[in-house]
Amino acid sequence: MAVPTIAIILAAGESTRMNSKLPKVLHPVAGRPMIDYALQNVAALSPAKTYVVVGNGSKEVISAIGKKAVPVLQSKRRGTGHAVLQVMPKLKGFQGDVLILYADACLVRSQTLKALRQFHAYQDATATLMTAKVEDPFGYGRIVRGKDDAVERIVEENEATPEEQHIQEVNGGVYLFKASALAEALLADKGKKEFYLTDCIQRVLSQGGKVQALLVPDSTEALGVNNRKLLAQAHRLLNLRRVADHQRDGVTFLDPGSVEISPWAVIGHDTVVEGNVKLLGATLIGEDCRIESGSVLDSAQLGRGVVVKSSRIVESRLGDGCDAGPYAHIRGGSVLDKYVHVGTNAEIKSSKLASGSKVGHFSYVGDATLGKDVNVGAGCVFANYDGKDKHKSVVGDKVFLGSNSTLVAPVTIGAKAVIGAGAVVTKNVPAGVTVVGVPAKPLKIK
Ligand code: UD1
Ligand code: CA
Repeated sequence: MAVPTIAIILAAGESTRMNSKLPKVLHPVAGRPMIDYALQNVAALSPAKTYVVVGNGSKEVISAIGKKAVPVLQSKRRGTGHAVLQVMPKLKGFQGDVLILYADACLVRSQTLKALRQFHAYQDATATLMTAKVEDPFGYGRIVRGKDDAVERIVEENEATPEEQHIQEVNGGVYLFKASALAEALLADKGKKEFYLTDCIQRVLSQGGKVQALLVPDSTEALGVNNRKLLAQAHRLLNLRRVADHQRDGVTFLDPGSVEISPWAVIGHDTVVEGNVKLLGATLIGEDCRIESGSVLDSAQLGRGVVVKSSRIVESRLGDGCDAGPYAHIRGGSVLDKYVHVGTNAEIKSSKLASGSKVGHFSYVGDATLGKDVNVGAGCVFANYDGKDKHKSVVGDKVFLGSNSTLVAPVTIGAKAVIGAGAVVTKNVPAGVTVVGVPAKPLKIK
């Protein structure tokens, strides 16, 4: 049977290097607060309990954790060893393994945590840590290996000799310890003003324990976000990983490095995503779509063969064959049925458009329901707000709204009615009737 595991996430740090009002672990990385990655990763190991050590900005961090973990306060930040020590009273009598993870290690994969646990069990190690070989080890704890290449200790940047500073194998900030050995190792440093968890490795060895290191092949997993430069790097790397997943699923990206994709995005086969596109929230895109450069989709749903040209679509649905843009803004739960065309600089808000309708250029359609094959002329405005309240409009099938016409809501236009250019419609228009002028009146043919 697997050894029970308790997880500890360290998230109390001062964030000095971030130079921010917001606690470091709450900074969003690729669409989610940094700490979410650690919480999600440890959850994949189904620990008996997860503790998060909080300190700096503890109130906000505790509310971000919610029910996913139990917060433990580290009131004075005296180092990573001291942070773990705060949790030890809760582990009294616990005989299993303790997984320790730094909240700024948001590029660690959950599969790696599983591999670490397996390796730790297989080796019957007292402590196992995740290491990586990096090009530039600056800022990381270096792994000092001795006889037979065995790990001897971790030396931190500020304590490393010039020779040790050249070591490229670094500490990734993920560890598994046998609970009893960890407690013993921490006790040795208890009185120190500042103490490092990394020193426990040497201590475990001197107490007769066995230390193992799992060297991960992808060194990006060791990245710890300490400053804004590393934050940008983590953001980019996480997005690139998501792009790679979608590429495997048959999606084309013309400029992968410039795309932002939420972890919840779903993209259909043979869809093409151009550069500088953001696919945020629960965005679902069908097959054979084209998302052109500069578009932002936030919790949008697109059917098959939809073309989005440098446009913003927020919490709205576009059916098969629709096209939007350039520079369209579709928002507020709008629903566009099949083959709806939304053109240059048009805005659609909280509206329903039935199939085949066209909103060509510079128009605003707000709080409206449009039937099939409606033509909304250039510059047509649905005046839905009277300064106090919003009102709804209903437009029947095959209505023609002339250029620069205004519909003062609430108003209902019957099927096949024609609204002349520049008309201001203040009253309902019956089906098949043509109205013109300000205010709009039925056209009398002399
Ligand atoms: C740490 C490691 C280093 C490793 C690197 C990997 C130590 C001493 N050094 O360095 O070996 O290569 O991570 O990214 O552990 N924290 C607390 N309380 C504290 C201090 C820190 O909870 O008193 C938390 C921080 O919020 C952070 C984590 O511990 O999430 C790591 O602290 P940080 O200051 O970022 O350590 P590094 O200097 O990056
Ligand atoms: Ca760090």
